[in-house]
Parts: sequence; structure tokens; C-alpha cells
Amino acid sequence: MTQRVLVTGGAGFIGSHTCVALASAGYVPVILDNLGNSDPRVLERLRQITGSTPKFIEGDVRDRALLARIFSDESFSSVIHFAGLKAVGDSVADPLAYYDNNVHGSFVLASAMRDAGVNTLIFSSSATVYGEPESSPIPEDAPRRPANPYGRSKLMVEEALNDLYRSQPGWRIALLRYFNPVGAHESGLIGEHPQGKPNNLMPFVCQVAVGQRDRLQIHGNDYATADGTGVRDYIHVMDLAEGHVAALKHAQNHGELVTLNLGTGKGASVLEVVQAFERASGRSLPYEIGPRRPGDVPAYWADPSLAQATLAWQGHRSLDQMCVDSWRWQQANPRGYG
Ligand code: NAD
Ligand code: WQD
Repeated sequence: MTQRVLVTGGAGFIGSHTCVALASAGYVPVILDNLGNSDPRVLERLRQITGSTPKFIEGDVRDRALLARIFSDESFSSVIHFAGLKAVGDSVADPLAYYDNNVHGSFVLASAMRDAGVNTLIFSSSATVYGEPESSPIPEDAPRRPANPYGRSKLMVEEALNDLYRSQPGWRIALLRYFNPVGAHESGLIGEHPQGKPNNLMPFVCQVAVGQRDRLQIHGNDYATADGTGVRDYIHVMDLAEGHVAALKHAQNHGELVTLNLGTGKGASVLEVVQAFERASGRSLPYEIGPRRPGDVPAYWADPSLAQATLAWQGHRSLDQMCVDSWRWQQANPRGYG
């Protein structure tokens, strides 16, 4: 029987790519999204890629009545919960918005699932739960010391879902801690289009390469790394999407709660990303060295071995592939879906 999966935040960057991976694995994604950071025109793009337009429900995961209606109208085998706010700086400026959206929203969703008897949940967590790590690679049992309200909101939901799992037998839960998702689907039809000035490196690089921005400012080159610039574990968004399908299949076959790092286990510096993007785009990327960004961690990357062993999955697309796919998306969609 075809399995319907509720994908909250499914119109967003990672959610839309995961809808592609779900469809190709034979699942039927149903998107719930309030369009706070996405564009409904992604649905047509998903039709072009997968051959069918996913059912879309415009709404908020914090809306108890809506969720009760959704779960009574449809029969879902599981939920993948992407909906949330994700900007670290914004979370410092407006912590209550992050706790209301990310924490309260997750609690309303989990309650609606429990009331409806849907007990398989994949949750979007983040490597920011680790804060500044003592060392890399980072295993899942590394200390969790989030340094901002965003990271704390993710850790709070992880802890609550652990308590839920312990309180009621039958839950099947995967807490997935993403490192740095970048790239775009190979078709160039879907990708990342942040609203306003990008905080993150890859979308900013894309906008410089396409001429929307003059130059990249590199946030510091005096870190104790090989070339002095920050090091991160970049993972292709389609690898991440496929990792969600693997986690869903694992959850459906194992009545347990797993917490897994979704990264490649390889670090890349800002300058290495710049060089890879220049190879991908054939364009030189103007940059200047600026001051360190407050709150930045010098270097971190995942120990992905538990995810590899548990899910028989690993990120395999290279940094160059991430840049090639990002560039294709950026060139074809300089104004996103607009
Ligand atoms: P995104 O902003 O592109 O997607 C999030 C989607 O959720 C958007 O479409 C937005 O409209 C929707 N949304 C937000 N609040 C909602 C609510 N209350 N009700 C319904 N819909 C809501 O972000 P993304 O990069 O795709 O991230 C998806 C998830 O992964 C987020 O939870 C984020 O915290 C997490 N994550 C992202 C990254 C990253 O670097 N992108 C890294 C680690 C974790
Ligand atoms: C990467 C590197 C910067 C922009 C963030 C969130 C994290 C997660 C992923 C949600 C760093 C440098 C960046 C620029 C630069 N999101 N940089 N110039 O900070 O590792 O993680 O996104 O969960 O929560 O914190 O990613 O892309 O912002 O930065 O030099 O214009 O690029 O200093 O070394 P980050 P990023």
C-alpha cells in the first residue's frame, strides 16, 4: 500500500528536496507549510521533477485544529518535521519567536500525532546543538552546549522527544543533526533561495558569481586552520534528502529512537569552497577578508559513522558537485521561484 508522509516545511529548501527523494522511493509526500520562508511555485517544479504535484496544505504546525483535521482527513504512515526557523542571528534577536515556532510547534505536532496514532517521526535537528565542540570529528555523544536560542530550541525538542519515546511504547523516532546542507537538485529546478541578504556561505557565493553582489566577505582568515578560514562539513542537499528516506525506512522497521549526525565527515574551508565554486562556474569570485563573525566556531565536522552503520547511507556527492549543482540552480533562477 502506498505510504503517505506528512512533510512539514516541505516547501522549503531541504523539505522540497526530500519530497523528490520520497517520491522516487515510492512514498507520497503531503506538504504542510505556512510559506513563511518559501514559495508555492516550488510545487510546479516538484511536478516537473517527479511527475506529480504533491498535495499542499497551507497552514501552521502550531494550529492544533488544523492538525487534528489533517490527521483525521488523511492517513499518514509517518511525519518528517522540517517546519521551523533557522537563522542563528535572528534567534538571538528574537528568542521567543524561535521557541514558539520550533519548540511549541514541535509539541503541537507530536501531540496531534499521538492523538491520531501516528508514531513515526523524523525530526530536523542541527549540529548547532553541539555549540563549540572540543574537537572534530564530532560524534553524537559529544557534549551538547548550544550557544544560541536556535541551537537551544533544537536541543529542547530533542530532549522532549526522548521523554515522549520513554513515556509511551511504540514511538519510532529519528533525530537528525544536519551539518551544512548546500547544493541543489541536478535538474536546477529547485534550490535554496534565502529571503534578503544570505547569512550562509553558499547562497552568498552564488549571488556573487551571478553578479547580484559585488564580492564575498570572508569572515576572518586568522583561525587555526590550514588556510586560516573557517572549516565546515558541507553535505549535498540531495544526499541529505536520501538520508531522510533511509532514516524513515529504518524508523519504520525498528521501534526505537535514534540520534544521528548527517554530514560527510570531511571539512572544507571557506577558501576551498571559493576555489571549488570558481571551478564549477568558470568565474573568478571576488572576495575580501573581513573580521571574524561573532559566534563563529573555527572548525567542525561530523563523525558520520553511526549514521552510516545504522542507515547504510552516507553522503557521497563531492564539494565540486555541490558547487556545480548550486551554480546551475542559481544561473537558471537568479530570483528564486519568482
Ligand atoms: P527553510 O526555511 O527553507 O524551510 C523551512 C520551511 O518551514 C519553510 O518553507 C517555512 O515556510 C516553513 N515553516 C516555518 N515555520 C513554520 C510553521 N510554524 N508552520 C509551517 N511551516 C513553517 O529551511 P531549511 O534549510 O529547509 O531547513 C529545514 C529544517 O532543517 C529546519 O527545521 C532547520 O532548522 C533545519 N536545519 C537546517 C539547516 C540548514 O543549514 N539549512 C541545518 C540544520 C538544520
Ligand atoms: C560557513 C562558513 C563562516 C558567510 C549555519 C548555522 C547552522 C546551520 C548551518 C541551521 C563559516 C563563513 C559565511 C559569509 C563567510 N543552519 N562565511 N562569509 O555558520 O557553519 O552554520 O548554517 O541549522 O545552525 O549556524 O554556516 O554558511 O553561515 O558559514 O566567510 O558571507 O563560511 O564564517 O566559516 P554555519 P555559514
